[in-house]
Order: sequence, then C-alpha cells, then structure tokens
Amino acid sequence: MSSAPGAEWWRSAVIYQVYPRSFADGNGDGIGDLAGITTRLPALAELGVDAVWFSPFFTSPQKDAGYDVADYCGVDPLFGTLDDFDALRAEASRLGLRIIVDLVPNHSSDQHVWFQEALAAAPGSAERARYLFRDGRGEHGEVPPNNWESVFGGPAWTQVTEADGQPGQWYLHLFDSSQPDFDWSNRAVQEQFLDVLRFWLDRGVDGFRVDVAHGLIKVDGLPDYTPPVEAGSMGGGIESGETPPYWAQPGVHPIYREWRELLNGYEGERMLAGEAWVQPLAKLADWVRPDEMHQTFNFEYLETPWEAAAQRAVIDDSLSAFGSVGAPSTWVLSNHDVVRHASRLALTAENPQGDGIGPKSKGLPEPVLGLRRARAATTLMLALPGSSYLYQGEELGLPEAIDLPDESRQDPTWFRTGGQRYGRDGCRVPIPWESDAPAYGFNATGSSWLPQPAEYGPLARDLQEGRAGSTLELYRRALAVRRTHALGHGSLEWLDGYGPEVLAFRNGDVTVIANLGEQPVELPAGTTLLCSGEISRAGLPSDTTVWIAAH
Ligand code: NOJ
Ligand code: CA
Repeated sequence: MSSAPGAEWWRSAVIYQVYPRSFADGNGDGIGDLAGITTRLPALAELGVDAVWFSPFFTSPQKDAGYDVADYCGVDPLFGTLDDFDALRAEASRLGLRIIVDLVPNHSSDQHVWFQEALAAAPGSAERARYLFRDGRGEHGEVPPNNWESVFGGPAWTQVTEADGQPGQWYLHLFDSSQPDFDWSNRAVQEQFLDVLRFWLDRGVDGFRVDVAHGLIKVDGLPDYTPPVEAGSMGGGIESGETPPYWAQPGVHPIYREWRELLNGYEGERMLAGEAWVQPLAKLADWVRPDEMHQTFNFEYLETPWEAAAQRAVIDDSLSAFGSVGAPSTWVLSNHDVVRHASRLALTAENPQGDGIGPKSKGLPEPVLGLRRARAATTLMLALPGSSYLYQGEELGLPEAIDLPDESRQDPTWFRTGGQRYGRDGCRVPIPWESDAPAYGFNATGSSWLPQPAEYGPLARDLQEGRAGSTLELYRRALAVRRTHALGHGSLEWLDGYGPEVLAFRNGDVTVIANLGEQPVELPAGTTLLCSGEISRAGLPSDTTVWIAAH
C-alpha cells in the first residue's frame, strides 16, 4: 500500500545506521556480522527508530571496510551469507523496521571480476572502458594523467603493469588504489547497476543509501584541478559553489532519474538517499528533485558549529532549499566518517572531515562538555521536521575513541598519509551492550577488531536501560514524543524574544528551546516533555534543549 503524497514514510523517518563490523558479533571472531545484528535488532525496535541503514556487508577484501565491493550481489563470508541477510530482513519486518542497504557505485574493489578482466585486457579494450584507464604523461608515460589527489591522500592514479611486463596505463581512484572508479558514461556500467538495484529490491529492501552520489561523472578530458584548502576531503566545503571536475557534475542526474523510475515500478515506497557532499544547500537540492532521489544527507548541518546564529541559518537554509523541490530535509550529526558528535562539538581546534582525532591532535574535547552538547544537539535535531539519521552508539553518548594504538588503526587515510591524518577508526569501535561482559557484550569471546576504550564500559546499554536521565532514555523518549506529536511531519515557526544565543521554535503543539549561550533562559509555562539536562530554578542552563507542550 502507498501513503498519500506527502505522507510517505521516508519524509519523516528516523533512520539508524548500523556499521556491521562494530554492532554485534555472532560468531565471536571480533568482527560484527549479520547473525549478530539479527539477535540485537529488537533493541532498535525498542529504541523507536523507523528504519535501519546497513553500511556495506557485500563481498569485499575490506581495504576500505567494505566500501570496496568485489561482488555487489554477494555477502562477504566475514558477515555471513545471503540466507543470513534474508533472516535479518525477516526479523526486521517482524519488528516493523524498514531496511536500507548501501550501494557503492562510484568504484568497485580491484578484486571485482570486471577490474581483473580490465587488467588482463589490452589498452583500448571494452574491458578497460568500464573503468577510467588513461595513458600517462611524460616521455615514457611515467607521470600520472592529471594532478588529482585521492580523498584518502596521495595521487588519485595508479600505474599498472601490462601483459608484456612493462609499466603501462594508469587507472583513476578517487579513494584508495584498491578502489578503481567506474566510467559511468559507459552503458554497460549503468546496466550493471540497474541489475544490482533489482537484485536487492527483489530481496525486499526498502531503499539504498548511495555512496559518493556526487562523484560518478567526471568532466571530459579529466583536466588538472587543485581544490581550495578549505574544501575538506569529500569536497563538501566549497562554499563558493566552485565545482571540481570530479564532484557534482550535471551528468549524474540522468543516472538517478533512471534509478527513480526503476524504484517507482516497485510496490512499497522504496527510496534512495544520496551521500552527496555538495554545497551550497540550494545546489544539493538538485539531487532530490521529484524525479531523482528521495533524500540526501545534510552534511552542511552536520558541519555547522554549535553556535545559535549558525544553527538557525542552516536550519532555515535546509528547510527552504529542500522545500523548494518538495523534498524533506534530512538531519544528521554522526556517521562512520566523522568524529562522533559527543566529541566533535567540544573540539577547540579546526578538524577537517576525515582527519579524525588521536592522542596528538590539537584542541582535544572535554568529555563532559561534549556529551552535554551532544545531548542538546540531538534533542534539537529530533524536533525538526523531516527525516533524521542516527549512528550506532550515539544513543549511548559514546565519545570518539581517541587513544587507539597506532598499530590497531585500519583506515586507508592513516596509511596513505603516513600517519599525518588519523582517519576514521575512532568512530568505528565496536559498541558496548553489557558493562560486565567480554568485549562489553559485542560478542562472547572478548575479541574486537579495534580495541574498545575503558570509557565505553560505564556507557554500556544495560547500565543505561531504564535509568532516568541516561542518554539512552533521552533518545527513547525523544523518539516516542516525536512520533506522538508527529514532529517529523510538522513545520517550524521561530519564536522571538529569547536572545541571540537561544534557538526557540514551535513545531505543532511543541515548543523547543535550545540554550547555546552561557546564561540560563527563563522558560514559558507548559509541561516539560523532554529535556537534555536538568532545568534549574534560574531556568534552562547552558547547552541544554527542552521540549515543552504548550498549554
Ligand atoms: C563514503 C563512505 O561513507 C566512506 O566510508 C568511504 O570510505 C567512501 N565513501 C568511499 O567509498
Ligand atoms: Ca563475526
């Protein structure tokens, strides 16, 4: 059955991101898996989310934690089997949870059969034309075809050895050298992905999160380009609207139109959510025009500092940009690529996305302040109209794992920059379920692919369950009230008179006040529905958000 236009589930859904290797480990090898997730799924239904997005669990050599896919229609043995996936899907549907899988179309793994065929074939062949192979520059082709840099650091080109044993052509990889970029102007590539979409749609998924959705098409001729310093590794920070030759090219849109048509042919409101690091928001809105994707991640919101004026501006810009094309805004504060917001919101030094933090980083966060702000920020976010994303462990108030030993780090960023950038391992550590169990309940053996910091013990889910004031209970209550008051489907009306460091608005019959300043804020009459901290006699303290039911 379909909802009335405007009432589709994805317009207001709260979507919980599971990072499969770090959620729950069924067989005890230290890496999370599908069977482990299935066992723990009831916890997500109890939390009150609508849908679960799974980062990749497909066949992969795991050079980039599964974002290097060797077979788009297979489950990596590390995570289980297709039968395990079917069992997971069945359990999700029993619990009323929709499921979204991760599609990685910009690049494959170098172990994908197509790339292996391309390596074995000659320059100029149909096999090579599925990827971006080019001759090198310089007298003997020893210089890369252009000056592009990989998002993970170092050159975006790797030279292959041809069948005759000689150094040969180069292939483009915007990410790791194990992740060759497809040539999306090639119809064979387009058709391959239509088949992949059909495969998972037929298996019952409710939607796809589309990896690097701003990257598929590159400018013809692959011209040299040097991004401005502030761009950040995924290209999100280009406020001038400058368009690099590999991001946000107009040619990506016909691809998504074709996908949308395919999805429209299926029952049940299937959806596409694009990972597009594009600024400004008005341009990002092109990804969610009525005949393209349903949603796109709002990274501009995620990257906005914890300052009232900036927060108000990004909320306004988001609602107006997405609203202008009839799409819901989305909101997100954490994911597997950024410093967890319980740490990020208290950083005191610049920290570009993707760099991560480690023991030697400048401006390390004060944990109590970080958690306080994170709770306030989430309470604000979950009151906004539209759809929100949560990242596993944020409902426990987990901070970034800062003190990971160097030898445990696995992010390609760490290796490709010779340790100059820590990368993203600190937000990917297995989450704590039981304070007193091996690996804090992640599995039964105590093994864990990244070491869990001691601070995770007291934050384990079992200690927070039913405990008044815990972060878990705050999230649970927020999701319940959000649902009862239909906040996701609501609209926002700013309230004046609260001073420049306060955000105050109404969404339906709920008044939301967030105090980002130092001074306590006097509250209006009404019943407190939810508060991220303790209200004192003087009013709403600093870094605290409250929801009040208007009388
Ligand atoms: C974005 C994903 O979220 C990130 O984890 C991955 O490394 C890159 N895309 C490359 O696929
Ligand atoms: Ca496992």
